[in-house]
Amino acid sequence: MIDLRSDTVTRPTQAMRAAMADAEVGDDVYGEDPTVRDLEGRVAGLFAHEAALFTPTGSLANVLAVRSVVGPGQEVLCESAAHIARAELGAHGAISGVTMRTWHHPRGQIDLAQIGTLFAPDLGPFFVPTAAIAVENTHNFAGGAVLPLDDLRALRGFADEREVAIHLDGARIWNAHVATGTPLAEYGAVADVLAVCLSKGLGAPVGSLMVGTSEAIEEARVWRKRLGAGMRQVGVLAAAGLYALDHHIERLADDHAHAALLAESLGVDPAGVDTNIVVAERSDAPAYVARARDAGVLVSAVGPTTVRLVTHLDVTRADAEAAARILAGL
Ligand SMILES: Cc1ncc(COP(=O)(O)O)c(C=O)c1O
Repeated sequence: MIDLRSDTVTRPTQAMRAAMADAEVGDDVYGEDPTVRDLEGRVAGLFAHEAALFTPTGSLANVLAVRSVVGPGQEVLCESAAHIARAELGAHGAISGVTMRTWHHPRGQIDLAQIGTLFAPDLGPFFVPTAAIAVENTHNFAGGAVLPLDDLRALRGFADEREVAIHLDGARIWNAHVATGTPLAEYGAVADVLAVCLSKGLGAPVGSLMVGTSEAIEEARVWRKRLGAGMRQVGVLAAAGLYALDHHIERLADDHAHAALLAESLGVDPAGVDTNIVVAERSDAPAYVARARDAGVLVSAVGPTTVRLVTHLDVTRADAEAAARILAGL
């Protein structure tokens, strides 16, 4: 089976497993795990922020980050297909008391005209005030689309004028960085808080981080524990993340090339494939998924007529070529 369902299906390489086995560990709830501390410092530095916090999932990093800038009864604006709106099972409302309103863009992009219409200043005890704007780079359900740096900078200006925060869901910010050559610190500069994942394209088995100010991270540390996600000798997992940062960022370019190859075989416009995700319209997506599985390729249906393919560390060039041939035959 060639598994193109998600970049979360990767298994740690032997070298990553060796790094995990050798990790120095301590009790991270006591702040005594040196490998976790290393990872948190390293990631904060990459984005030129003060601090970072290791979390088991990207969803939790998003919850902690959003709640650090949006209080209960306030709202965050985001694109309608954003992961925080569509795929975190209402966590931001259920846990943090945050409401959301959304703008729509077929490629998940920033649309300042729509955001300007949605933006709600604090008018006293009548309306929900906007406290933050959240963006996703790359945008998962918009087919791994990259948000251009100029648009992010324009949004920063918009948010500063209105004194609201920006949250960047950077589960795949590494893919945006490799696809565009934009330094990670430039992405860090446009956001007050970020969530970044090690367990997608970077191939670690577990792990994400919230990134922000020291104050926001100290508060998030309390909330992480409150939500039951204080972890102990978790340096074994942080070591996988450090290994991934050292060895698995630049190779994302291969995943992008493989996605372009798959797009071509599916007749998808390559202009719509920025990184490692290909979204194709098929009149009956679930039946197409079943036919592909019978032919040896796993893909996902992300809507009744939408199929998604994701390339990753465990898909070689030969796998991508074989999958392209099989899918073209369907
Ligand atoms: C854009 C985006 N943000 C956040 C997440 C959440 O990550 P996790 O599955 O680790 O909770 C995902 C997961 O695919 C994602 O695609």
